[in-house]
Amino acid sequence: MSSKYRSPAMDRRSFVKIISSALGSLMAAVVGLPAIQYFISPSLGKEEEDEWISLGPLENYPLDTPTQFNFSLNKVNGWEKSSHSYGVFVLREEGKGVVVYSDVCTHLSCRLNWIPEEEEYLCPCHAARFDKHGNLISGPPPRPMDRFETKLDEGQLFIHLKEG
Ligand code: FES
Repeated sequence: MSSKYRSPAMDRRSFVKIISSALGSLMAAVVGLPAIQYFISPSLGKEEEDEWISLGPLENYPLDTPTQFNFSLNKVNGWEKSSHSYGVFVLREEGKGVVVYSDVCTHLSCRLNWIPEEEEYLCPCHAARFDKHGNLISGPPPRPMDRFETKLDEGQLFIHLKEG
C-alpha cells in the first residue's frame, strides 16, 4: 500500500507514538534536571563575597594602642570547603573614632606584628615598617596598610570583609 492510502488507524498509531515520546522526554526532563542541577550547582557556586564581621564591643579596645583581633571563617566554594584565618589591628583614638587595619603586608602578604616599643608595625619577611596609622615608613611595600570599612551597631564594632 502506498503512503497516499494509509489507513486512519496508522495515523492514530503514529500520533500516539509521538505523544508518548514527547511525554517521555518531558518526564525525563522533569526528573532529570533537578538531579543534574543538584550534582552540578555546587561547582558553579560562588564563595560568600562580602560580609560584616563582628569584632565585639568597641569599648573593649584600649585607646591609642593597636590591638590585634584574630578570627577564622569557613568557606564553601563549590565542592571545596576551607577555613581562612584573618588578623586585624583595631586602633581607637580619642576624638578620631576607630580604624581597623589588615595585618597582611601589602608587599607579599606576610603577617605584620605590632611592636609597642617602636610604635611601629614590622613585617618579618622583608623588614617593612609602618607607623601606627598604617603609613609606610620603609621597605618594599607599594602602599600603606589596608583598612577595613567599619560600622558600629549598638556598641559593637563590625568590619566589612570583601573577598575577591
Ligand atoms: S611581605 Fe612584607 S615586606 Fe615583603
